[in-house]
Amino acid sequence: MPVSATGSSLNNPRPGPPLWLLAELTYRCPLQCPYCSNPLDFAETRDELDTESWFRVLREAREMGAAQLGFSGGEPLVRPDLPELIAEARRLGYYTNLITSGIGLTEAKVAQFREAGLDHIQVSFQASDPELNDAVAGSKKAFRNKLAMARAVHEAGYPMVLNFVIHRHNIHQMDDIIRLCEELGADFVELATCQYYGWAFENREGLMPSADQLATAETKVNAHRERLAAAGSAMKLIFVTPDYYEERPKACMNGWGSLFLTVAPDGTALPCHSARILPIEFPSVRDQSVSSIWYDSPGFNRYRGDAWMPEPCRSCDEKDKDFGGCRCQAYLLTGDADNADPVCGKSPHHDRVLAARRAADHATAPLAELTYRNARNSRVFAKA
Ligand code: FES
Repeated sequence: MPVSATGSSLNNPRPGPPLWLLAELTYRCPLQCPYCSNPLDFAETRDELDTESWFRVLREAREMGAAQLGFSGGEPLVRPDLPELIAEARRLGYYTNLITSGIGLTEAKVAQFREAGLDHIQVSFQASDPELNDAVAGSKKAFRNKLAMARAVHEAGYPMVLNFVIHRHNIHQMDDIIRLCEELGADFVELATCQYYGWAFENREGLMPSADQLATAETKVNAHRERLAAAGSAMKLIFVTPDYYEERPKACMNGWGSLFLTVAPDGTALPCHSARILPIEFPSVRDQSVSSIWYDSPGFNRYRGDAWMPEPCRSCDEKDKDFGGCRCQAYLLTGDADNADPVCGKSPHHDRVLAARRAADHATAPLAELTYRNARNSRVFAKA
């Protein structure tokens, strides 16, 4: 692809600003979920951005037009400067969202965040009961803490937003999960079937539900939606099916370098949370302004527009809708991020997705055999 001296693609219009900033404050996390989207070698990242650097990133992105800010990780609560970061984000005029496991949260912290101006808190659960929840999370007290903190978040006046990552070990719990959400007074529930990046890709065979499991779960969710609507409940259920059961790819990130900017704990700037797996050199906010990263860096320009697309994407009449799908998925499944996302039925590599579906029909791996996301396992991946 022709690239100018500043790195901008010659045939692409200058993109709009990054509207959504994801601040991955840390890779540290007290939980060990085997579907974490963090990089496998996360334990190698020790040098986190300091408070002042985050202030600068928030300021520069806001000056460019960023409006939504997600604090995530790892577990963002392990950063002692989180209240300061929230307060600064509020001062700059962001709409702020804390994406948390709830572990490490206290009623005092919820009040502190409220005071600092945090707009929204999303608490994640692993299952509807303590045994399975704690087995997936790799932590003995996780469920009890999460319940208490979900209630504290609600009592502080926040909308109750819950997230469950769904996979073959908890997909049978759909009725119980939805009942738990009702008990907690949830407003929005994201039932997000696992997508296969990071640790989830490593554990794909042990996590991916079968087509039958998925169809049963979706039928149940639809029945609950009808029941809730008939009862006048405002609770919204969002069921996200895995890409691997689609025939057309998603418009990942709404297009590469189009709306989303992720800044990783060490300052690496990425067009999506998974992109550091790609054989692309991404810039760091330690060395460059957010504006020059967004508009001029080769990494952010790499997949803008359609000049990079090979067939079948290049001549596809849906390319303006899906942008060829997900670059990270293309890389993970084919070894070349330029390829069409193999989720697409037109991709010459679609057979890899079909093979994963067939394997899911017969998978038997127990939960305990999954590779849990922890520093010990991460160091093994880093050495490999
Ligand atoms: Fe990276 Fe889709 S997750 S482009």
